[in-house]
Amino acid sequence: MGSVSGTEGYAEEAESLIRQYESFSFADVHGPELHLIPAAPCRALDVGSGTGRDAAALAAMGHSVVAVEPTSAFRLRAASLHPSLYIEWLDDSLPDLVRVRERGEQFELVMLTAVWMHLDEGQRRLAMPGVVSLVRAGGVMIMSLRHGPVPPGRRMFAVSAEETIELADGEGLQLLLRYTRPPLLATGAVTWTHLAFAKRSG
Ligand SMILES: C[S@@+](CC[C@H](N)C(=O)[O-])C[C@H]1O[C@@H](n2cnc3c(N)ncnc32)[C@H](O)[C@@H]1O
Repeated sequence: MGSVSGTEGYAEEAESLIRQYESFSFADVHGPELHLIPAAPCRALDVGSGTGRDAAALAAMGHSVVAVEPTSAFRLRAASLHPSLYIEWLDDSLPDLVRVRERGEQFELVMLTAVWMHLDEGQRRLAMPGVVSLVRAGGVMIMSLRHGPVPPGRRMFAVSAEETIELADGEGLQLLLRYTRPPLLATGAVTWTHLAFAKRSG
């Protein structure tokens, strides 16, 4: 079993988490940033794609998606739950995203939903330039950050919106949207920050 940093605890709980992640819709999770999803068919990258809920929704909107997920229990189930010619399921991981980056492709839309807090500070600093290099000029990057107690067995870190905005800004991303919301499930003291950025040209 591979041990990608950040994935600790997921395989063990995959069955219940698959049910949980699939119980939400793309609109439930991404409501306030829906207007930033490109209207015209585009190339999209979903990093930490879990059960493929968002990749499937993007494909249904006409986009062609690379869904990156290092936890094989999720990635394999995602491919069977959401079979689509418009989704490529890829085993790769932050902070380096080696396999995605070696292709040299850029995407109009890059999503990192509920994944960034799995990286420690050093990994976040390392990851941001690589992730931003995958966003096409004028493209959009959307992230959500979880704040609150770490579930037993998982590897998560406190991560602020301010740090993330600063790291992104340093790589040429301009903040478009920032909002905080309670969790979709009533899970105690957890809150979420959603951030969206546009990549400056030049
Ligand atoms: C909370 S889940 C979110 C899944 C999905 N994005 C969603 O919104 O339902 C976090 C996901 O990030 C993945 N993950 C953990 N560490 C990662 C890393 N280093 N690189 C990429 N993905 C990672 C986990 O395997 C898991 O699928």
